[in-house]
Amino acid sequence: MSLAAWLRFAELSVLGAWLAWRLYRPRPFWRFEAAVPAGAAILGAAQLGVEARAATDAFTSPWQLLPSLMGTWFGALSLVILLGGLLAAGALPLLYRSSPMASMRLTVGAALALLVAAGASAAGVRSARAAAASGDIAMSPTLIVPRSAMSVANPYASDPGSTERGRLVYQQNCAVCHGINGDGNGPAAANMRIRPASFRNPQHFLAPGMDGAHFWVIEHGDGQPSGMPTWQGKLSEQQMWDALNYVKALASRP
Ligand code: HEC
Repeated sequence: MSLAAWLRFAELSVLGAWLAWRLYRPRPFWRFEAAVPAGAAILGAAQLGVEARAATDAFTSPWQLLPSLMGTWFGALSLVILLGGLLAAGALPLLYRSSPMASMRLTVGAALALLVAAGASAAGVRSARAAAASGDIAMSPTLIVPRSAMSVANPYASDPGSTERGRLVYQQNCAVCHGINGDGNGPAAANMRIRPASFRNPQHFLAPGMDGAHFWVIEHGDGQPSGMPTWQGKLSEQQMWDALNYVKALASRP
């Protein structure tokens, strides 16, 4: 079992055991009981951190991955436990002091609400969930690239004419969204639900070994309505590679 899975197991067991004990024995209140949800919150934070680190690659920082992790059922659960645990740790001592019975009911009710909230927030981000589960590359919260795409080599990497041919392909097909100079602010960008990527990012687009992943995006798009379209069937393989080489030229401009 991975470290993240152990943490998840621990955070759920801590909470489960605590709730069961609370149901069985509404009183008396133990002075340091707020430490239990606080402990679960710390485990939840650690689990999110470990999972984000594990899915990180040359391209994606742990911070970028957090939104997609939270789209997974367990990720959302950890987030909710983290926030709910902190809240409970702060509120419990005050509540118990005034009314032990009411706060016991509140504890159980809040735990159920947390589970429902976790389920609901997880339902939202389908593609992100797939990424977190399979180790695919999350280029953006809406753009998931299969890791296998990275092993495809750029057949025109050393073709001096490719970039020049790509300029035409780019200006005819891509500039409308990505902008003539690649800043992501083409005339159509304002009406898009998902912001077109800016290519003014050499770290991202010139990263070694990533051409295949970028090519995959051009070929398949992001599969989102009002997102990056698929160019398969509309452009030839060579035109797509040429366009990518031009994108890289845009990215390497000072
Ligand atoms: C209709 C608008 C639109 C057009 C036309 C378009 N794109 Fe995109 N493109 C997008 C959007 C939106 C994204 C961001 C996708 C996401 O994050 O889900 C994107 C993302 C990308 C990316 C991925 C960036 C990354 O992180 O790796 C590449 C590469 C790309 N586009 C290349 C192209 C090329 C090459 C063309 C022309 C053949 C093109 N695009 C045409 C909207 C467009």
